[in-house]
This record gives sequence, structure tokens and C-alpha cells, in this order.
Amino acid sequence: MLIDTYGRVATDLRVSLTDRCNLRCTYCMPEEGLQWLAKPDLLTDDEIVRLIGIAVTDLGVTEVRFTGGEPLLRPGLVGIVERCAALAPRPKMSLTTNGIGLKRTAAALKAAGLDRVNVSLDTLRPDVFKTLTRRDRHHDVIDGMAAARDAGLTPVKVNAVLMPGLNDDEAPDLLAWAVEHDYEMRFIEQMPLDAQHGWKRDGMITAGDILESLRTRFTLTAEGEDERGSAPAERWVVDGGPHRVGVIASVTRPFCRACDRTRLTADGQVRTCLFAREESDLRGALRSGAPDEEIARLWKLAMWGKKAGSGLDDPSFLQPDRPMSAIGG
Ligand code: GTP
Ligand code: 5AD
Ligand code: SF4
Repeated sequence: MLIDTYGRVATDLRVSLTDRCNLRCTYCMPEEGLQWLAKPDLLTDDEIVRLIGIAVTDLGVTEVRFTGGEPLLRPGLVGIVERCAALAPRPKMSLTTNGIGLKRTAAALKAAGLDRVNVSLDTLRPDVFKTLTRRDRHHDVIDGMAAARDAGLTPVKVNAVLMPGLNDDEAPDLLAWAVEHDYEMRFIEQMPLDAQHGWKRDGMITAGDILESLRTRFTLTAEGEDERGSAPAERWVVDGGPHRVGVIASVTRPFCRACDRTRLTADGQVRTCLFAREESDLRGALRSGAPDEEIARLWKLAMWGKKAGSGLDDPSFLQPDRPMSAIGG
């Protein structure tokens, strides 16, 4: 079991499969991209499957989410999913993607055993999409989401980060569109995890702003706390149901007390939190021939050091050295 000193148990593993991405979202990375991890530093497919196997079989992990960068850029993704589906006990598996490439891969991912996907889409306007992601791929994302839904990778959840002056007027339109297409819309407060370190609390669109904007067009009824469990998203029933909308308010309504997550970076480091400044190396142990028990011990030790919270409200808060794209969302 991956338990920390506050009694939280991590059963949800987020695995970053690559730090690369085919978009350049302004809130994430600069136009020129970043210094990507070198190939020999990346875990191999075999190493990833082995670590997930240890997590599931020996450490009580029940849910695995594949993230990036953009996880669909990992050539071996379908094979990794297929091998993880064969683990005992079989973990629930999901993917967080920008949606480009989903049209091509959705059916194969479903067949391999993936359960569901979350897709990032911040705007319904192709021109705003281009400004925001610096790529003209709006259509590919929309098509990818439909392909995922049609392949049964459901519920398809849509993640939108709202930014002032860019897309902050779009919340009601996005929700109406998601309801129409049977997607679950979620709005995310921007977090200080951009590579450029440009985040400012003052400029951030808050959960309060988002709810106020949505309520101009919808009636929202809060879902019970019991239904939330450890999910980052707080949810509301839209116009009496059945659709829901979520708000992920990491900054103004942190949910660290219920956190059930452990993370693995593409180069084999355990992270206890998105905002952690420390990492624990598993790749070195793997490559020096350590047995499963030793890897499991190192992973437990890492999680024992998990802090109470993100530290965002601490005046001495420092952004982690790695940006979001290299941590894995
Ligand atoms: P499900 O609700 O299970 O589908 O997953 P999710 O919402 O946790 O996953 P997703 O990858 O779609 O992430 C949505 C947003 O939540 C992203 O902005 C993530 O960075 C953020 N997020 C995910 N895990 C954490 C976490 O442990 N802490 C914080 N603060 N934010 C998180
Ligand atoms: N703050 C909040 N969300 C972010 N994402 C990427 N960078 C940030 C940030 N700085 C979102 C993406 C994606 C999800 C994994 O995280 O839009 O939907
Ligand atoms: Fe790529 Fe996601 Fe970063 Fe956008 S937010 S550049 S889609 S990793």
C-alpha cells in the first residue's frame, strides 16, 4: 500500500509517457518547445509495464492514467495498454490527451483495454484555438473526441482552462456544446506549472468566476460530497440532469486532503504531487537489476514523504523545476 504520513492512500497512478507535445498551449510551453528528455533517459515500454505491474500487484494501485506531454505521441501506447489490461488485478485505465490523433487510434485503444479518455479543448472557435495552442488543429481535436465517444471510450471528459481576454467568455457555450454531444465538461483553474513561469494569481479565472458565468445560462445544483470521492473535479448537475459539469479549482478550493495520487514521470521518477519539488528515482533501481520488492520499497518510501498540500498558499511557494508537460498533468 502507498500510504503517507497523513493517512492518505494512493490508489491512482498517473504515468507520463512522454514530455513531448504536438501543440504549444501558451499556458504550458513556449513556441519553440522545450528541451525534451533524451531517448535513453525515457523508460522503455517494458520498464513502464513492469512498474505499473508492481504498482497494481504489490502496491494497491487500482487506476492508471496515461498522460504526457501528449501520450498519443508514444509509439508503443497501444501495446502498453494491452499489456496492462492483462495484469492481475486488472487496473482501470484512462488517457488524458489533446485529442489530435485520437481519430486514428480510438478504436485500437478501446480494443487494447483502455476504458475512457479526457480531452483538452479550451475553445469552440478555431481562430482562438490557433492563438492558444499555436497550431491550426481545432478540427482534429473535435473529430478525435467524436471518435473516442463512438469507440466507447466513455464518458469522454473535456478539460478547458479559461484565460482572461482569450476564452473566458466561452464557458456557457462550451457547456452547451458538451451537453449536446454527450461529453462531460470540466473547467480548470490555471495552475503555476507553465514552463515560462508566467502564472499570476491576479490574472487567473477562478472557480467562482466560472460558476457565475455558467449560471447566466444554466441552473446548477451541487452534487453531494459522497459522489466526489477523491476526484479533483467538484461537480454540478446541469438543468436538473442528467448532464454534469465539473470545476477543478486547484488554486482556490484545493482538494489535497483527499488526494489519492502517485505519479511516474517519463524518465522513471516518482512524484508525490504535481507541485512537489522532490522526486525519487526508480529508473536507476530498475536498470541496476533491483527485484520487484526493492522497487516497491522505494516507491513506498517516496510516498511516505508526501506533503500535506500543494503549498500554493505558502508565501515561500516555489514552482517545481519541471513544467506540467514533463510531470504529466
Ligand atoms: P478523472 O476525473 O478521473 O477523469 O481525472 P482527472 O480530472 O483527475 O484527470 P485529468 O488528467 O483530466 O486532469 C484534469 C486536471 O486536473 C488537469 O489540469 C490536471 O493537472 C489536474 N489534476 C490532476 N491531478 C491533480 C492533482 O493531484 N492535483 C491537482 N491540483 N490537480 C490535478
Ligand atoms: N494549469 C491548469 N491546467 C493545465 N493544463 C495544462 N497546463 C495547465 C496549467 N498550467 C491542463 C491541460 C489538460 C490537463 C492535463 O491539464 O489543458 O487538459
Ligand atoms: Fe501539449 Fe497539453 Fe501542454 Fe497543450 S497543455 S502544449 S496539449 S502538453
